[in-house]
Amino acid sequence: MIDDIAQKVSERYARAAATGEQMCCPTGYNFNDLKTFIPEEVLNISYGCGTPAGLATVKAGETVLDIGSGGGIDCFEASRRVGPSGRVIGIDMTDTMLKIARRNSPIVARNLGYPSSNVEFRKGMADAMPVDDGSVDLIISNCVINLAPDKRKVFREMFRILKPGGRFTISDIVADQTVPQYLVHDTEKWGNCLSGALTVGEYIGGMVEAGFLAIHQVKTISWQKIDRIQFLSVTLTGYKFPLVQPNSHGRFATLVGPFSRVTDELGQSYRRGIPQQINAWAAQMLSAPPFQQVFVLSESPTIIGESDPRWIAVLPEQKPCVWKGDFAILTGPFIEAEDDDRHVFRRGTPIEICSKTLKVLATGHYQPHFAVINRASQDVAGTTVSCAPEGGCC
Ligand SMILES: C[S@@+](CC[C@H](N)C(=O)[O-])C[C@H]1O[C@@H](n2cnc3c(N)ncnc32)[C@H](O)[C@@H]1O
Repeated sequence: MIDDIAQKVSERYARAAATGEQMCCPTGYNFNDLKTFIPEEVLNISYGCGTPAGLATVKAGETVLDIGSGGGIDCFEASRRVGPSGRVIGIDMTDTMLKIARRNSPIVARNLGYPSSNVEFRKGMADAMPVDDGSVDLIISNCVINLAPDKRKVFREMFRILKPGGRFTISDIVADQTVPQYLVHDTEKWGNCLSGALTVGEYIGGMVEAGFLAIHQVKTISWQKIDRIQFLSVTLTGYKFPLVQPNSHGRFATLVGPFSRVTDELGQSYRRGIPQQINAWAAQMLSAPPFQQVFVLSESPTIIGESDPRWIAVLPEQKPCVWKGDFAILTGPFIEAEDDDRHVFRRGTPIEICSKTLKVLATGHYQPHFAVINRASQDVAGTTVSCAPEGGCC
């Protein structure tokens, strides 16, 4: 079954590349900008669902690896961002894609004014990449891992090839619930990036299992609904932290909000305002960018009270609410988090929310942590209520 899926996916993309067929999702790239240095032949076969190479995360001089590089769009954008001193490696299993990408790489180098191309395209599978251990600073990928039959193997490969301190930024398709067998075995829908989609929880869980930490969303957009299954395009980032002695040099972390309580990926819980002693392993993780707005790290315990300007709380309006079919999915970097209305969100699990909570989660402090979907398939009458089913405030 596994070889069969890969073979069919490869044939599908070879066909698409040969004909220039339009597939998958709007990526969000500014094509007018990309056209200034990437030939149209490459842009015409852009089959991604995000902009992992177009984000500010790509830094000059880095070694970047793109899993499932296709015609090369993300490799070429990464080439521009890493500059002539950086390196980019594209991996793809489909010969037709590799041929187009390789043909265009000297043209892109010339357009960028580089003495020679800093992009190399290698033939290989996402779950067995022809790349040395610990040799890459940043892994990107655009709408590919959903196509791989064994995603956990891909996540383990990613962890193997990253340098300690390395990170990934990946755009991919996920689903709000388990994709049923009748869709899983629909080959056409595999090729269209739907049947192979994991749930948000399975996707992030597989990455944690591989060893990644501080996994969080950069962006989520709704893509397509099939038989009440909501497919989403997510862009996620996570880190492979260098090994440190967990017990060396303890510090303190104080949660500033917006959540009233969170549990991190190491299983440690924090209450807003109350300092928590942490070991060096946790301190390294909480120093990573997704936590910088959420924690104060200090050498001695720092208590943060409600009157402290660092304290963040976003309270719902005190008025009745309406249930409209909205669900919120916590996308990280915590495995569990509680808001000021006693909703407990578990990463990857959709929780039904009312109009009041929707408004709260749309604020700048909460929004980065959630994907919001709507499961109503017909107009909602919208009777206002004042309480949740279990009697709490809704
Ligand atoms: C949806 S396209 C995306 C291409 C490119 N990332 C882009 O944004 O245009 C998927 C690409 O991944 C490649 N691919 C799919 N599954 C793969 C696997 N298991 N190993 C290596 N390449 C794979 C396909 O050959 C194809 O070029």
